[in-house]
Amino acid sequence: MKTLILYATKHGATRKIAKLIAQEIPDSVVKDVEESDPHLPSYDCVILGSSLMAGQIRKPLKNYIAKHQSELLTKKLGLFLSGLAEEEEEKYFTHNFPPEILQAAATKHILGGIYDPQQCNALEKVVMRIVTKSNSYISTVKSDKIAAFVHELNQ
Ligand SMILES: Cc1cc2nc3c(=O)[nH]c(=O)nc-3n(C[C@H](O)[C@H](O)[C@H](O)COP(=O)(O)O)c2cc1C
Repeated sequence: MKTLILYATKHGATRKIAKLIAQEIPDSVVKDVEESDPHLPSYDCVILGSSLMAGQIRKPLKNYIAKHQSELLTKKLGLFLSGLAEEEEEKYFTHNFPPEILQAAATKHILGGIYDPQQCNALEKVVMRIVTKSNSYISTVKSDKIAAFVHELNQ
């Protein structure tokens, strides 16, 4: 089974997570939705992932899903988000994905997030200082969450 892992990132954390997922799935390829328009018929399984900013997934992934929804619904589907507020998981999925895609997904989880102040602009740093009460690097990405996500996809 050939798997496409298609992600949208602002500062690179979602790319890192996509690559960690790929390490767990034989015959998978990782692509940035802003750099490629993959040939969907070549894949049996598609995993879509985006980071969250102010509760929103990234526009290029949202647009991609809207454009390819009917074909995506013929695939085995997984959805992941990169974010730091994992307690909001259900709300983020419901607000950001069409109900048909959510219903078709074999698995959907927040797989953690990374805050790297060196990657952020001044406004983002102010927001993150308020939200995280910290100026320091934070990563909540864990390999066990990624393994559980892949396990659920394979059920
Ligand atoms: C300005 C800003 C807003 C954010 N808003 C959210 C949010 O609403 N919910 C959340 O869970 N994480 C939020 N985050 C955390 C990011 O989603 C997290 O750092 C993510 O790993 C970034 O992924 P990326 O590097 O692929 O863009 C925010 C981060 C920044 C800098």
